[in-house]
Amino acid sequence: MNEFFRGRRLRRTPALRALIRENEVRPQDLIMPYFVVETDDASFKKPIASMPGQFQLGPKALEETVAKAVDQGLMSVLLFGIPKVKDEKASQAYADEGVVQEAVRRLKDRFPELVVVTDVCLCEYTSHGHCGLLRGEEILNDPTVELLAKAALSHARAGADIVAPSDMMDGRVAAIRDTLDENGFTDIPIMSYAVKYASAFYGPFRDAAESAPAFGDRKTHQMDPANRREALREAEADAAEGADILMVKPGLPYLDILRDLSDSFDLPVAVYNVSGEYSMVKAAAANGWIDEKRIVLETLTAFKRAGADLILTYHAEDALGWLDK
Ligand code: PBG
Repeated sequence: MNEFFRGRRLRRTPALRALIRENEVRPQDLIMPYFVVETDDASFKKPIASMPGQFQLGPKALEETVAKAVDQGLMSVLLFGIPKVKDEKASQAYADEGVVQEAVRRLKDRFPELVVVTDVCLCEYTSHGHCGLLRGEEILNDPTVELLAKAALSHARAGADIVAPSDMMDGRVAAIRDTLDENGFTDIPIMSYAVKYASAFYGPFRDAAESAPAFGDRKTHQMDPANRREALREAEADAAEGADILMVKPGLPYLDILRDLSDSFDLPVAVYNVSGEYSMVKAAAANGWIDEKRIVLETLTAFKRAGADLILTYHAEDALGWLDK
């Protein structure tokens, strides 16, 4: 008489549950983002009000923070730069001595094994906070792509292991690939923010990176949150242009898209658990409304279950201390 399914049989003890566990977050899956500031005070360290636990860091402070995280088992970082001077052409985004370029040199020098990923975009470097060159209020595509390729090349020259364009201009992956190849960087992979939605979940990041647009929004280049099939077209385009890793962003509200990409492509798929997702967890935890550790581990596991190979998350440092090792 086997009338019903006794699912509880395999949930009876921790060891039985571990035996049949399907997905697991591993330390090497996590990429921790950092904000590095160009400043004469190398040890500068300023808390980011809207992202409790995160800091704007001077170059030396970055190095020390990363040293601690590496001791905890961190293997990969993503760098964002905040330059001293911003202008209409985002000159510091592709300056060989720019803030990110210098930070890459410093980190690769001290931690040769660390995977250093750089975010390639202009918004932190333009005086108006938009992701590209403007004509009036229009963001120009093709001239912006040229500058993005220059930025990616300057990151590769500084020693970046992966470049990650986050701008959502059309054709930038192909342009970056060509430029890297022509300059001898055929082995530097591109992690494309292939499916990036125009999301309210980036709010806290724009404080952190000082990159809020002075007018308007990013809806002419980032995707409409209502669209699913369009995500596949974006991902196909980037794969065809030579992307090595495809990213979905934000994370938790877009797990369906993550699953779609992971089912449809044989490239590694990354997910970005963005600033707003992070800050909501921190705020609720600070109020004692949720158990932060369990929420974070459950969230990261959900990304793996939905098909993510890699996870970019501000929780990375904390999570490393919480994962079973
Ligand atoms: C653009 C960029 C953004 C994020 C990563 N790269 C902001 C934007 O598109 O406005 C958001 C990351 C986050 O919210 O954590 N350089």
